Amino acid sequence: MDGLRGVFAGRVEARPPVWLMRQAGRYLPEYRETRSSARDFLSFCYTPELAIEVTLQPIRRFGFDASIIFSDILVIPDALGQRVRFVEGEGPRLDAIENPEALRALASVLDEEKLQPVYEALRGVRAALPASTSLIGFCGAPWTLATYMIAGQGTPDQAPARLFAYQHRAAFVSLIETLTESCITHLTRQIEAGAEIVQIFDSWAGPLPLAEFEAWCLEPVARITRAIRARFPHVPVIAFPRAVAGSLRGFVERTGVQAISLDTAARLAEARAKLPDSVVTQGNLDPLVLIAGGEALDRAVDDIRAATEGRPHIFNLGHGILPQTPIAHVERMLERVRG
Ligand code: CP3
Repeated sequence: MDGLRGVFAGRVEARPPVWLMRQAGRYLPEYRETRSSARDFLSFCYTPELAIEVTLQPIRRFGFDASIIFSDILVIPDALGQRVRFVEGEGPRLDAIENPEALRALASVLDEEKLQPVYEALRGVRAALPASTSLIGFCGAPWTLATYMIAGQGTPDQAPARLFAYQHRAAFVSLIETLTESCITHLTRQIEAGAEIVQIFDSWAGPLPLAEFEAWCLEPVARITRAIRARFPHVPVIAFPRAVAGSLRGFVERTGVQAISLDTAARLAEARAKLPDSVVTQGNLDPLVLIAGGEALDRAVDDIRAATEGRPHIFNLGHGILPQTPIAHVERMLERVRG
């Protein structure tokens, strides 16, 4: 029973280790309580004592096998000097980057000083976690960060960033370059502060044509992975390229990641057939079936267990847990996974 560490050491246990993307969040009353004491979402992320507390809440309540540091992917644009805020009930808002001139106003190097509270929180979490619980650090992948930086908010099909990349290619290349270096720095500092696994979230990789996908998602994630593995050969990298173009196997081979987090629509049988057993899979329960609960939930859990049996797999969702999720359903899911 050695959780994520066992899986990454190539051991396959009778029950898979489990954690949930966005496991610290609004579906927990204790999260809402702590959250209400912070001025705004970013200061919440940058107050180590609050970030430590909410990171630990789901571990105390559910005993997940891994803890993910409470922060956000948008701390990178914030630490590059772009104004980032979170509007209650709507989501992130940034000053949109409408042309190459606006890009020049941003710093080209991450302000590490600004991110010290994140690293301090990691040290605090590591000190408080049970020894068997893995600590995961993370960043948003350059493409996903660029979609928010250019549009200034979440968009259904990432059209503003896609268009910008076609119209201002040189400027976009340099933005991706800056973000790639920033991700390497941010992950490095997180590992130095106690993260033993890192996950790269490329939530908006889906709508890109193949050539764009290769340039803006695959290549930068490969560069980040190479840099991290060169510095920290013992730290596994998990990639979450949601709804990817091209083949899973090609993605894994070309990026060199140790694990791939599969989204809800990914076919586990195909992953099993195409990926070598040295590559860990993670996922991919539908966050909606966790809201539904009951037999639909049991069936979905059993299907994932059956499809991944005998291969190194980390049980997780196919995307982040939703605020409406009943806690009893998370408990039921855990019993089923661990039973
Ligand atoms: O528990 C954890 O998983 C760790 C913390 C974490 C958060 N965001 C906290 C958060 C992680 C890993 C993220 C990643 C993140 N943030 C992604 C990639 C993963 C994904 O879901 O696709 C993205 C795209 C973001 C950007 C972001 N942050 C959005 C779009 C939103 C608003 C949507 C929402 O759920 O409100 C956020 C805010 C945010 N980040 C919340 C949390 C818990 C909710 C804010 C609140 O408490 O009001």
